[in-house]
Amino acid sequence: MRVRKAVITAAGYGTRFLPVTRSQPKEMLPLVNKPLIQYAVEEAINSGIEQVIMVTAMGKRAIEDYFDRSFELEYFLERKGQAVLLKQMQELSALVDICYVRQKEQLGLGNAIFTARDIVGNEPFAVILPDDIIDSVVPCLKSMVNVYERYGAGVLAVEKVSSEDTRKYGIIEPARVGRRVNRILSLVEKPEPARAPSRLAIVGRYVLNPEILDAIRATKPGKGGEIQLTDALEILLDRQKLYAFTLEGTRYDTGTPLGWLKANMAMGLKSQEYGPELRKYLQKLL
Ligand code: G1P
Repeated sequence: MRVRKAVITAAGYGTRFLPVTRSQPKEMLPLVNKPLIQYAVEEAINSGIEQVIMVTAMGKRAIEDYFDRSFELEYFLERKGQAVLLKQMQELSALVDICYVRQKEQLGLGNAIFTARDIVGNEPFAVILPDDIIDSVVPCLKSMVNVYERYGAGVLAVEKVSSEDTRKYGIIEPARVGRRVNRILSLVEKPEPARAPSRLAIVGRYVLNPEILDAIRATKPGKGGEIQLTDALEILLDRQKLYAFTLEGTRYDTGTPLGWLKANMAMGLKSQEYGPELRKYLQKLL
C-alpha cells in the first residue's frame, strides 16, 4: 500500500528553547528564510505525501495561520503591485492538504502520534519530527518510502552519533542487510553509553505500518514518564520486522539554540541569495 499520509508532530513545549517558546511555537522559528515547519511539510510533499496530519497543542495557532490563506495580505500585496510576493503567498497556502489534531496533554511522542489515529486509519504512514532538519539531495523520507516498498516493513531513519550522545536518542541494535539498510534487532530509548546496543541513533523520520497504533495503546509510560514511540516499536518488533535507513546528507537538531544557530549558519552559507555575503561577513568576524 502506498504511503500517502504523514503525521508531523508539533505539540511540544519546546523547553530547550525557552524563553523564546513562551509565546511562540518553536516550529515557527526561521531557518534562513522559512519557518522550520515548512521544511517538514516540503519534505513530505517531495516524498509523495498527499495529506499532512499536524499534531499541535495549546499555543500553536501560528502554525495553522501560517498555512492558511490570508485574503487581507493578498489584497494588500496586490494593491502594492508586489506580484512575486503575492504569488509566493498563494503557493504557500496551496501547498498540501493539512488537517490538525490537538494533543491535550504532553504525554510523549507515542501519545502525540496516537492522537492522529482516526485520521491515519488503517494504512501505512510517515512521521516527521520537525526539529530534525535533513539537508540531502534526495529527501530523506523519499528514500525511506523506497526502503519501505522494497522490504514491506516499517523503516526508521538513523545516524551514527558519538558514544556520549546515545543518552539523547533512541538507539537501535542493527543487523546489516544492504547499503544503508539494517534490520533492527532491538531498540532502546536514550540509553547510557555503557548500555547502548550501538551508536546508531534514531532521527525524527519514520515510515510505519498502522499496527504501531495498537502497540502504542499497549505501551506503558517509559523514560521521563512519557509514552515513548521507541517502546511501542520494541513491542511491535515481536510481531513485525523493522528496518533502519542510515540517512544521507546532513542532519541538524534545531531544537536547541546552539543547534539552531549551526543550522542557520550552514544553510545560510549554502544559500545562493545570502551565502556569498554571509561568508564574507563571517570571515571578517573571525
Ligand atoms: C525523540 C525520540 C527518540 C529519537 C529523537 C530524534 O526524542 O523519542 O527516540 O531519537 O526524537 O530526534 P526527543 O528528541 O523528542 O526527546
